[in-house]
Amino acid sequence: MPKNRAVKARNGEAEWFGDAASSYVFRPIHYLGSKLRVLTAIERAVDRVDPSGGPVCDLFSGSATVSRYLSQRRRVMAVDIQEYARVLAEAVLNGDPTWSMASVETALDHDRRGTILRRAVDPLIKLENEAALDALRGNVEPLCELLELGNLASLSGDELAAGSLLVGAARETRTRIEAIGLPGADTVCVRHFGGQYFSYAQAAELDAIANLARDSQSSVLLAATLSTASHLVNSIGKQFAQPIRPRDKSGIPKRHVVKKIIAERGLSARSVFLGYLRQYRGLAVTRRDHATVRADFREALARPALKPSVVYADPPYTRDHYSRFYHSLETLSLGDDPNITKSNLGNGDVQSRGGYREGRHQSPFCIKSEAPAAFSALFAGVAALRVPLVLSYSGYDPIVEARPRVMALEAVISLARQHFNDVRIEQLASLEHMKLNTTSLNKAAKGTTEVLLLCR
Ligand SMILES: C[S@@+](CC[C@H](N)C(=O)[O-])C[C@H]1O[C@@H](n2cnc3c(N)ncnc32)[C@H](O)[C@@H]1O
Repeated sequence: MPKNRAVKARNGEAEWFGDAASSYVFRPIHYLGSKLRVLTAIERAVDRVDPSGGPVCDLFSGSATVSRYLSQRRRVMAVDIQEYARVLAEAVLNGDPTWSMASVETALDHDRRGTILRRAVDPLIKLENEAALDALRGNVEPLCELLELGNLASLSGDELAAGSLLVGAARETRTRIEAIGLPGADTVCVRHFGGQYFSYAQAAELDAIANLARDSQSSVLLAATLSTASHLVNSIGKQFAQPIRPRDKSGIPKRHVVKKIIAERGLSARSVFLGYLRQYRGLAVTRRDHATVRADFREALARPALKPSVVYADPPYTRDHYSRFYHSLETLSLGDDPNITKSNLGNGDVQSRGGYREGRHQSPFCIKSEAPAAFSALFAGVAALRVPLVLSYSGYDPIVEARPRVMALEAVISLARQHFNDVRIEQLASLEHMKLNTTSLNKAAKGTTEVLLLCR
């Protein structure tokens, strides 16, 4: 495919000609370590090590922003261990022309399963509405209690035995959900994520939307569901690892937090979903034969779905497992009803307040003792394909950075040199990066900014 020329693209409805760049910068979800702000620098580096314009493998594709951008001018193979990442990549790379806005709206209007579920959750929805009104009038206690209740699936019989209004509504909701007899996967949002991440009304709507999306088998409908969940979630950083705590350490409600929560929890999941669908609809695609793979990086390199002429790799570089931060998106994508992990509290008998899925992926890149072998396998796997590699990594200065990198940059570079003859380091202290804010500017100045390793 010709490189760096106006591309011929098409979206679901019409042929489209010209410079597609604006629609190729798209953020499907809020994602830790997203490369949205350094896309042009990444593409330039990829083009420098592989001027052929051949297929590119985006090896840790995450939110699919890099895959989407590179797909303007190259065929892409997007790889990630998480199913939600595969769904997002499929939606933004290959699109799906099989639905219309009108057909989705009609399906939502006539969704009997959604109506039944909403009725079952009504006691908690009503109580939450009352609590929000109370909070607006100055009494934030009921809303704080509701946020602190945790998820329905984790509540033990003992907790539900007491006599408060909240407990009564939670018991009634649980009984009604059991009575409607839907499969666990159809009500998982309400039971695992309602209350602490979404309002109960939003959680019921999200279950209904996710069920429709999965039934339709459309990657775009499911991706728009994930975008909606990411947009709505009540948490700092829009992840699913730390449910918001509405009180400070001494138990005093944080009023500014409560105010923000009320605004966010009042949003309609359906409106947000339809808004995202329109955005996905507007994404031009240049071709529909990109490959999207859910696999471990070693497996994907050993048996690539298509032979790349260059690999871009953006592995995790802190101890934070992505599977913990985005477990809810994984559950929505898989459409299952997983067990919830136990927390360290209460002799390990208490289910985690965050509602984390059992058996979630543990990445070797996030584990100090395993990271060197993982990097070696990554370099060896790409070298065995006899193609160049562009690796994103983050420099780290222990004096200024609180969140340590699992491996020091120097160690990563020396491993790369064992597998490639020519390894060059580029610092991404580019204008794009500098635009962020004063903190990141300071970090960039102190050498903690992103780097690219160009390996040939
Ligand atoms: C830094 S993020 C990638 C961000 C991505 N470039 C973006 O812009 O959104 C790292 C990704 O590596 C994935 N990952 C972690 N361990 C993996 C493994 N063993 N195999 C494949 N992917 C893995 C995570 O799920 C996560 O999405």
